[in-house]
Amino acid sequence: MIQALRGFRDFYPENQSNITYLQTKIADVCSLFGYEQFEGPAIESFDLYAAKSSDEIVSEQAFTFQDRGGEQITLRPELTPTLARMVANKQEQLIFPLRWWSFGRFWRYERPQRGRGREFYQWNCDLVGDDSQYADLEILEIVITFLQSLGLTQEDCVIQVSDRGFVANLLRQAGLGEQKLPMVFRFLDKLPKINSEEQADFAQKLGLSTDDVQIVIRLMDDPSIWESNTELTGLIHLLKQKKLDGWIEPSLSLVRGFTYYTGLVFEVNDRNKEFRALLGGGRYNNLVESVGGKPVSGIGFGMGDMVLLEYLVSKDLIPAYETGIDVCLISLGESVASYCQAIATELRQADICVVWHASGDSPAKGLKFANQKQIPYAIIIGENELSDQTITFKNLTSGQQDTLPRDAILTVLERQKNNDE
Ligand code: HAM
Repeated sequence: MIQALRGFRDFYPENQSNITYLQTKIADVCSLFGYEQFEGPAIESFDLYAAKSSDEIVSEQAFTFQDRGGEQITLRPELTPTLARMVANKQEQLIFPLRWWSFGRFWRYERPQRGRGREFYQWNCDLVGDDSQYADLEILEIVITFLQSLGLTQEDCVIQVSDRGFVANLLRQAGLGEQKLPMVFRFLDKLPKINSEEQADFAQKLGLSTDDVQIVIRLMDDPSIWESNTELTGLIHLLKQKKLDGWIEPSLSLVRGFTYYTGLVFEVNDRNKEFRALLGGGRYNNLVESVGGKPVSGIGFGMGDMVLLEYLVSKDLIPAYETGIDVCLISLGESVASYCQAIATELRQADICVVWHASGDSPAKGLKFANQKQIPYAIIIGENELSDQTITFKNLTSGQQDTLPRDAILTVLERQKNNDE
């Protein structure tokens, strides 16, 4: 039997409902902060990512192929270059600052593993055209408000923050040449994911000497070095005023893998470090310019569905799946079909969710279906109900069954729902 491709998922309704749940929470938080939803194409020209995104993503993970016209095209592995392109394309008409969010599918040819797939959903949330610390604060506040809306607290999760510009300066001051900085960033980004033997190999592969590695590790081991960075101390001060600083942890070894980040970078992790990062983002002050626009700064983040859902499942924070169907309308035989259809229409006009089930001669099949789907009420219609203009109403939780005048249907349902709530 043909299965979904490795790293791709089928979303049966109970899986899809988790995505819908996240999407609803995301939309709620975004609208609270005045963010507008946008979307870009799923495929972009390869050139949009080359040299602007992350080496690892472009050369190892992007789904890149030639289209029938011979152009190199890429299934989007991330949204930030598209966002920058869209800003640059209409920069004169757009009203800044932009507060934009999006939720869609992305593709990376990664080794499928826990929290990593080849196709995943990602929420992107970006603020373009404000390089003040209040923009940084706002973005982090959105992250925190979202996590809280899922039932998570600062005891569960931590937002690690760093400043890439500051780290670059520290490295320069420590004697590392400009051309080595991109390699050091790649090294730092990989550091937490590999063991010490692999670290040495990876450093060598990047052209970093043992001395270079020593300098980097020594700097990163200093727990208070970040305190000399006014960007980070200023941001933490603002967060403190909002009593949100308990969510934050400065961590200079966090540099993130993208070449476009210029300043603040951040990631959310579970405090027990059992899962990979839940989300990651940062400030990118040159990206719009690098795709042909005028200089404008941006800050934002991306959050995938996979790690977050695994984490929420582990904390029992995902609502149980429900179909939302109120009534199963069971019809016994062709002769009652139009009577049933009229009842179904009447219920739907009153905003009651109804499925219709043709059950043959006996209601047994329909009742079994309704029970399996955990539908709370059944309405059974046979020849007798049609000729008497009645309905047989069954509460599937209590088992109580009554035959009632057809006109009473809405009143009875209303009463039953109130009783059952
Ligand atoms: P990123 O760190 O590559 O950042 O991805 C953000 C999040 O997307 C990750 O923390 C993870 O939750 C999810 N993610 C990434 N790759 C996969 C995968 N293969 N499978 C499942 N989930 C995945 C970015 O993409 C930046 N463009 C975010 C950004 C927006 N920065 C500024 N604005």
